[in-house]
Amino acid sequence: MKEHSCIFTIFGATGDLTSRKLLPALYYLEQERFLKENFKIIAVARKEKTDEDYRAEASESVRIFSKRKIHDDVLKKLVSRLYYYNLEFSNPDGYAELKEFIEKLAGDKCSDCERIFYLAVQSSFFGVIISNLKRLELAEKDNYGKPYNRVMFEKPFGHDLKSARELNNTIIKVFGEKQIYRIDHYMAKELVQNLIVLRFANSIFEPLWNKEYIDHVQITVAESLGVEGRGEYYDNAGAIRDVMQNHMMQLLTLVAMEAPKSLDADDLRKEKVKVLKSVSKFKKGGVKNIAVTGQYTGNMIDGRRLVSYTNEHEVSKSSKTETFVAAKLEINNKMWKGVPFYLRTGKRLKERATEIVIVYKNAPSYLFQKSSPSNNMMIIRVQPYEGITLQFNAKVPGNKVVIDNVEMDFCHECKFGPNSPEAYERLLYDVMIGDHTLFTSWEEVENAWHIFDILIGAFKGKKPHKYGAGTWGPEEADKLIQGDGRKWIGPSKPAYAEQLEKMYKQ
Ligand code: BG6
Repeated sequence: MKEHSCIFTIFGATGDLTSRKLLPALYYLEQERFLKENFKIIAVARKEKTDEDYRAEASESVRIFSKRKIHDDVLKKLVSRLYYYNLEFSNPDGYAELKEFIEKLAGDKCSDCERIFYLAVQSSFFGVIISNLKRLELAEKDNYGKPYNRVMFEKPFGHDLKSARELNNTIIKVFGEKQIYRIDHYMAKELVQNLIVLRFANSIFEPLWNKEYIDHVQITVAESLGVEGRGEYYDNAGAIRDVMQNHMMQLLTLVAMEAPKSLDADDLRKEKVKVLKSVSKFKKGGVKNIAVTGQYTGNMIDGRRLVSYTNEHEVSKSSKTETFVAAKLEINNKMWKGVPFYLRTGKRLKERATEIVIVYKNAPSYLFQKSSPSNNMMIIRVQPYEGITLQFNAKVPGNKVVIDNVEMDFCHECKFGPNSPEAYERLLYDVMIGDHTLFTSWEEVENAWHIFDILIGAFKGKKPHKYGAGTWGPEEADKLIQGDGRKWIGPSKPAYAEQLEKMYKQ
């Protein structure tokens, strides 16, 4: 049987996302031999460039951003699959030539080749790109058979609930739900997928995973980087839209959902949607005690001058966009009622770390009056030191009963090696094989917007609190959790961090 060519077209191919994530992911797929011989990549963007220019830049990006050792022959092969195509997304004329170009590369009529369109552009361009693909019959429904025809959308999907709905309506007129892949790359992180196994394959944890035993949950997505050349996008988005509404909701739903009927995409998504629907909605005028926003100011860190957010390239000098947000969410269902979920995320924080901390209720301490036990904790380290740490109380050697906090670590990479698939590698591969499990359904997106529309509205036009670049955010975020008699935990380096760092250097 004839093997179809596959043409992978990336819209927005000169952006930060393509350089940092997609090109390294394609390199890994090449290295693992997951790209078939007639797989070709068309990099579409607005800048004028030749194939040679783009190939040189792409090689450079792979070398800079790949976490793995680069083999020249693998990189050469990947680069030979790359073609550059210059297009103003809103210019309808350019699409007819793009279609011809796809046919030329495929060596076939378009109807005979597999097509994946990756929209790594701001969601305001989704509509125009999709309608042009439809006009040129590049987007016909494929009956989910072969040759396939699929489309991937980067997040955030829309700017608010209304725009997300409009967008979705445009898209579903053109593509069937099974052809649509809405990305949230946090779902594809190894430790995020591990949450399902940790929770449902371990009888020592699952019975304790509810309001009877858990005091509260903390989720932190901290970044040390600033806006890195994405000032224009970020200034229109802010931390709530960029990370909290999507990545953090994926983490929250996987922590809070009940066991799905199966691991199939539909069953998993159903449980996640139930959680989103149970999150109590922010009330207009009532967000002050449950959410805080911040924006970084310039700072001198380790002899390095970090500029303030408002001095970043393409950011308005009077911007009120939040680069930090902390919020307290409640889930109104039988399993979680009364257990706060504290979330915080920000750019230019002290370190890069994504962690979920499950803080258990205190054990009855009438036996230990002089040295009281601390809350047990489970720290799920999504990145950078992937793993799980369990903190519990132990007796310090000696004649008296003195209690100290001790830790047990599972270091993911020490056990399984550093070559687990990177998030984007896994996502691209899943699109090729047609697996939706790690992609978000429309219902998830819609319900997440339901939660955050009100929060975004409440902060609109208000000045965020200031925090120095390279710190842990504004002190108002500390006060938010301290008001409940609690404090932010970590992020901290696990005991195995050094071992991992040595391993990376080899
Ligand atoms: C992206 C955001 O979705 O996620 C970026 O747009 C952010 O602003 C990035 O830096 C974080 O992803 P990761 O995988 O580096 O944690």
